[in-house]
Amino acid sequence: MNKISNQMLVIFGASGDLTARKLIPAIYSLYKENYLPDNFVVLGASRSTISDDDFRKKVVKESSYLKDSIAEDKNDFVSTFSDKLFYEDLGDSYDTDYARLSKRISELNSKYKTDNNYIFYLSTPPSLYETIAKNLYSQELTKENDGWKRIIVEKPFGYSLKTAKDLNTGLQKYFDEDQIYRIDHYLGKETVQNLLVTRFSNTIFEPLWNRDYIKHIEITNAETVGVEKRGGYYDKSGALRDMFQSHLLQIVSLIVMEPPINSSAQEIRNEKVKALKSLRIMNDDKTIYNHTIKGQYVASIIDGKTVKGYREEDGVNPESKTETYAAIKFFVDNWRWKDIPFYVRTAKRMPTKVTEVVIHFKTPHHHVFTERNINNKDNKLIIRIQPDEGVLVKFGVKVPGQGFKVDRANLDFYYSSLSDSNNIMQAYERLLLDAMEGDATLYARADEVEAAWAFVDPILNYWENGKDVNTYGYSAGVWGPENANDLLEGNNIWRNPGEQLVDDTGFCVIC
Ligand code: BG6
Repeated sequence: MNKISNQMLVIFGASGDLTARKLIPAIYSLYKENYLPDNFVVLGASRSTISDDDFRKKVVKESSYLKDSIAEDKNDFVSTFSDKLFYEDLGDSYDTDYARLSKRISELNSKYKTDNNYIFYLSTPPSLYETIAKNLYSQELTKENDGWKRIIVEKPFGYSLKTAKDLNTGLQKYFDEDQIYRIDHYLGKETVQNLLVTRFSNTIFEPLWNRDYIKHIEITNAETVGVEKRGGYYDKSGALRDMFQSHLLQIVSLIVMEPPINSSAQEIRNEKVKALKSLRIMNDDKTIYNHTIKGQYVASIIDGKTVKGYREEDGVNPESKTETYAAIKFFVDNWRWKDIPFYVRTAKRMPTKVTEVVIHFKTPHHHVFTERNINNKDNKLIIRIQPDEGVLVKFGVKVPGQGFKVDRANLDFYYSSLSDSNNIMQAYERLLLDAMEGDATLYARADEVEAAWAFVDPILNYWENGKDVNTYGYSAGVWGPENANDLLEGNNIWRNPGEQLVDDTGFCVIC
């Protein structure tokens, strides 16, 4: 008997892209791995008028993972999993026809014995969240007297601090905070969770995890793709809202936070909120001007193919100033991190897809030996979030031969070397499973989201309305604007993964 309670997952916006590309494949994987409860059904709901059968066909057609799975194991999928999928159309708007939806939920619940336990997954534009919540409430579908009820909402959670607060207030009118699950798929990544384990289960890192030993922290999130088919959404959002406010500040909070007293959702999230509240808010234009770089990719030729510039992308205003590159330097005002710079950047159309955290340690205060490579003489801990998930430590070793010259060597761990690495769950699988079990540890709480917006808001305001704001162009396929290194103090330069910088002696300065 499975320990997860019987339940129904109701997906709003079910005819959209996310349902077929991520949600149903994730549920299918959970099903294959035997994680689903004995009684479980999915009810898709949206404005399209399609039958249960069309819905089943549609999700399969739009997901390469499902198509491949069918090819491998046709009978299993068609006869058992897809029988769990149902669909109900919501009429012309998301504000009507809930009586019909409620009736369908009730019928499915009786027939498939899902014990009145429902998860409502909102994969719709955020402007509909409150409307949907209100309608569920009016149909008494949020009441927990006969079974539990949870609501999962997708990002973007708000557009600014004010809209995020309004959204929280709006949802909390109909659901209690502990029924609300705000999804951030980065928290579902194994390597992001491993940040906590690296820090709090090793005596070799945590004692050094502070301003006494760390010089600065660098986080890079790079994607090779442009905005693809999402130009319309992206042009109103930009890198700061799309990636930085959510995914990257979640990573920052895990690096900055103090040790929680235990691993419960409450304690971990309390510490994350404290961490986010300690980010020094940049309230004056001059600081923002000096501590941020905003860029936009321009047309370029990559591997012989012409790649469109951002302003030429479908759905994007040809005069758009929206950033596809954002780099921010900031400080954290607390005992542990005072005056240690954090450099965080995110961008589209970079040379490679990578997300990594680099902890740069201070050099020894007295140099006994000569460094062979003056630009690469610090210890680094590099946490590769994706791809090549793993952890790399760079440390000094004696260069063989005469004298005592020191160079850097690598201790390199790859997740793929673990015997159970095949069992690594995709982010959506892990997060859905947690919500099914009622574990909110990897979901963002209202105060966490608001603290992240409070940090980002002044930068957004300045970037959108300030004087002297530059949107630097960079060619698609390079590491951002030419002046990207200006943000970093001293001779520091960004570590561009995959890029090697060799000095006159043929030695690798950046490897
Ligand atoms: C999404 C953003 O949240 O994350 C996208 O909206 C981005 O713009 C994506 O491409 C990146 O996710 P991942 O897991 O591929 O790093």
